[in-house]
Amino acid sequence: MSYNLLKGKKGIIFGALDSNSIAWKTAERVHEEGGEFVLTNAPVAMRMGQINELAEKTGSQVIPADATSVEDLQKLVEQSMEILGGKIDFVLHSIGMSINVRKGKHYTDQNYDWTQKGTDVSAMSFHKVMQTLYKADAMNEWGSIVALSYMAAQRVFPDYNDMADNKAYLESIARSFGYFFGRDKKVRVNTISQSPTPTTAGSGVKGFDGFIAYADKMSPLGNATALDCANYCVTLFSDLTKRVTLQNLYNDGGFSNMGVSDAVMSTFVGEE
Ligand code: NAI
Repeated sequence: MSYNLLKGKKGIIFGALDSNSIAWKTAERVHEEGGEFVLTNAPVAMRMGQINELAEKTGSQVIPADATSVEDLQKLVEQSMEILGGKIDFVLHSIGMSINVRKGKHYTDQNYDWTQKGTDVSAMSFHKVMQTLYKADAMNEWGSIVALSYMAAQRVFPDYNDMADNKAYLESIARSFGYFFGRDKKVRVNTISQSPTPTTAGSGVKGFDGFIAYADKMSPLGNATALDCANYCVTLFSDLTKRVTLQNLYNDGGFSNMGVSDAVMSTFVGEE
């Protein structure tokens, strides 16, 4: 269903790799709501990705950019404003990657070159994106910037590895930069803390099947899907959430406030 919530709004969407990606679903929903955008991803991801299909479907252009390269980001922002014919109203940062996770390196045995690369890609890139937009004065007043996070920023999930630290850093950047973006440009900055979701990045985490099933059983509404996350992004990009900023917003079916559910408890309690 479309409500035309984003009619006339222009944006940049990072991170659509394939049709499972949260960014992919968000692009589809933003398009349905009347928003226009530029799609971007790392040059290497484009060679293996299907982003052109999404671009065609949503009438968008694709600009490759490595989100760790300030030079790439400057070009991206400049070209996006040219293509879209003006300043930007919304940005989705949907980027995450840990080489330690990918290569099965345990949290207590990090390869720090990989740790640093993961931090740059997954967290510092958010600062770089915002600093580039801020310096270029590229955001319209009452614009909205969203990045995607996970609850391992607050609580221990052992196999989430160094991504837990990256998400804590990401959420902190949202608050710190969000202050300046709000004060100086009237732009809001938030993170959405999303349920485990079967995507390329998600499935890379060790024991992901158990992870996702446990979260689902713990949550009174069950896990939030990629589409649920896309819908939440639409609301945050719309004018209906104008003064929501500096927040980490849980989109997790209630998981974050649970202690234990009947469904999980029943697996521990035998028949009386
Ligand atoms: P995905 O694998 O579809 O998306 C990750 C994206 O990051 C890919 O498109 C990839 O090409 C991009 N990327 C990696 N390095 C990059 C770079 N240097 N420059 C630009 N882009 C780069 O997976 P998903 O799940 O859609 O991930 C999106 C976001 O959602 C990530 O921040 C992830 O941590 C977060 N998230 C995912 C959850 C899950 O269980 N899947 C749960 C909570 C948050």
